[in-house]
Amino acid sequence: MAKRGNSIIKGIEINDIIAVLNKAYADEWLAYYQYFIEAKVIKGIMKDAAIAELQQHATDELRHANMVADRILQLGGTPLLHPKEWFTHTNCGYEEPKNFDVVSILEDSIKGEQCAISIYSNLAEMTRDKDIVTYDIVSEILADEVEHEEDLQALHDDISDFVTDLKKNLN
Ligand SMILES: [Fe+2]
Ligand SMILES: [Fe+2]
Repeated sequence: MAKRGNSIIKGIEINDIIAVLNKAYADEWLAYYQYFIEAKVIKGIMKDAAIAELQQHATDELRHANMVADRILQLGGTPLLHPKEWFTHTNCGYEEPKNFDVVSILEDSIKGEQCAISIYSNLAEMTRDKDIVTYDIVSEILADEVEHEEDLQALHDDISDFVTDLKKNLN
């Protein structure tokens, strides 16, 4: 535990920060696996573009899990040790892919990113002016999640437009 580092935290309980970070940590692992498996099972038009995006997001979520775990350790906490705890701690849950169609997979993922944006935005509010280091980390992750939502939405819209045009030309 970083003693001097933790002494600069003011107006917020360190244990409360650890608790919310562990919830975010659970979310990141579930998001990682969701992207990992989506990239495997996805089907349909323009799926190669979607696979590249999903794989990139999986890599980013794992990097986020790493950043959050390191911060929990710095604060003197322990990151969740068992995967079963991901489900008891998660904020955003896990969206099991049921329909493997590219548009449906992208819609599931957009929902996940919107949840992540709300969570990290709350964490930034909670730590602002109180725990600068956690604030910086959650702000950096928040920026990534905003970019993720945008990338998925753009791809979703491109594919939807393409399918609409295709149908028009067939009629
Ligand atoms: Fe993330
Ligand atoms: Fe994300």
